Amino acid sequence: MLPVEVGVKPLPIGAISGAEHPLLTPSVLYVDEGRLYFGPTAFEHARRGVEDARDPLLSFKTVLGARNLEEALQSKMRPSVDPTGTFRHRDALALYLAYLDQLIREAIDLAPNIPAGAMYARRRYTSPVWRPGSGVERVFEDIFNESAAISQKLGTLLLGPNGISIAQCRDALDKAAAQPGDGMLETGVFEPHAAAACALAFSNEPTNFVMVFDMGAGTTDIAAFEFDDRMEPPTLSEIKDARQCSALAGDEIDRILIDLLLRKSGMRKGEDEEIRAARMARLVGRELKRDLLRDGKCQLRTGWRTISVRASDMMEDERFRAYLGALAGTIAKSLQAIVPRAEARGEQVIDVVLAGGGAHLSFIPALVQRAAASLNTNVRLRIGQLSPLNPLYQGIDTSLAGVFPQIAMSVGGALVEMMPARA
Ligand SMILES: Nc1ncnc2c1ncn2[C@@H]1O[C@H](COP(=O)(O)OP(=O)(O)OP(=O)(O)O)[C@@H](O)[C@H]1O
Ligand SMILES: [Mg+2]
Repeated sequence: MLPVEVGVKPLPIGAISGAEHPLLTPSVLYVDEGRLYFGPTAFEHARRGVEDARDPLLSFKTVLGARNLEEALQSKMRPSVDPTGTFRHRDALALYLAYLDQLIREAIDLAPNIPAGAMYARRRYTSPVWRPGSGVERVFEDIFNESAAISQKLGTLLLGPNGISIAQCRDALDKAAAQPGDGMLETGVFEPHAAAACALAFSNEPTNFVMVFDMGAGTTDIAAFEFDDRMEPPTLSEIKDARQCSALAGDEIDRILIDLLLRKSGMRKGEDEEIRAARMARLVGRELKRDLLRDGKCQLRTGWRTISVRASDMMEDERFRAYLGALAGTIAKSLQAIVPRAEARGEQVIDVVLAGGGAHLSFIPALVQRAAASLNTNVRLRIGQLSPLNPLYQGIDTSLAGVFPQIAMSVGGALVEMMPARA
């Protein structure tokens, strides 16, 4: 019942983990010489491990988004991630959640504006796929409960700079499976639903049709909702046909950029130097992309060599052009499911809410317009970032501007029952 800006507060878990931003922490795991590392520490080790043909586990999304979730969770991690063959994806997730639980505890403890009772609040997770009644909720509840037991057993060891021995992890996993704790899990929330709820909560000019465009690292997810305040309470129902999930997201831009860099380097594909440069580039791909967007150019240093790419090289790159074309096509498909319904209700405007890290990419609004142009409609698209920098939203702490498109899903996930979804 509190106003959103009072009742919902982000936890500074990034400050605790030592990440770049106090409110974001990278979901990274790294196995190295018999020890497991989490978060920014894992990243550090991965960077040092470039010579050893080793990779960090960078995204759980591909696992969580799998068609057969059970099977994906039961499968072992790739040998380049876990050469010891100890961990299944499910184990990695349980351990990572235990680490996250420790970050949350420290954050609640240290943040001056969070009441200590927040420790006992029930928890929600957002999910990119939502299959109510599929038994997925039960699977996640079990994992959360096991992670609670692991967190209790390993405690602040999980946050230490020295990682945890694999034997200790294995032992904690086995004991947690035999005797799980209470993960305090309340529910999962469909991610775009959370983003739409967040947009509606802060918007000072809400529209009845909202399209959420969430570009993350691994996937770009599009979903649309119809807000109906003719009902009591008002409902937010999904326009299911508008749902799109595409791998054309941030990581794919990184891959295109890295590919372009390596081609420009003149190194022969598959030769040792090229393989090492590629592994190096993958670890700094995000920074390269950020530099390219901010400065119009980026550079990769590998040993004695420096390879540069300019924004204009990228814009002329065939693979990048194909990427933009395909993404515009995906957006158009989603709009085809929304626009006629908006027209039928006599609506003039559809809100296009840009969320996720990709919301920072300056070419997205034009891409959405390009997709809309193929539809030939009079309905106007109001395209904007879900951020306090956007005058459409009020009451969001302006210091959150840089990360709000990314934390919007958590904020909205905490709010979502304010807008009950209609089946
Ligand atoms: N300022 C920025 N400019 C450009 N890209 C950015 C910026 N900030 C973050 N990104 C990109 O956004 C992506 C991460 O976004 P986000 O945090 O929403 O992903 P995620 O939710 O972890 O991924 P997914 O939704 O696929 O699971 C990365 O590709 C990152 O490079
Ligand atoms: Mg995301």
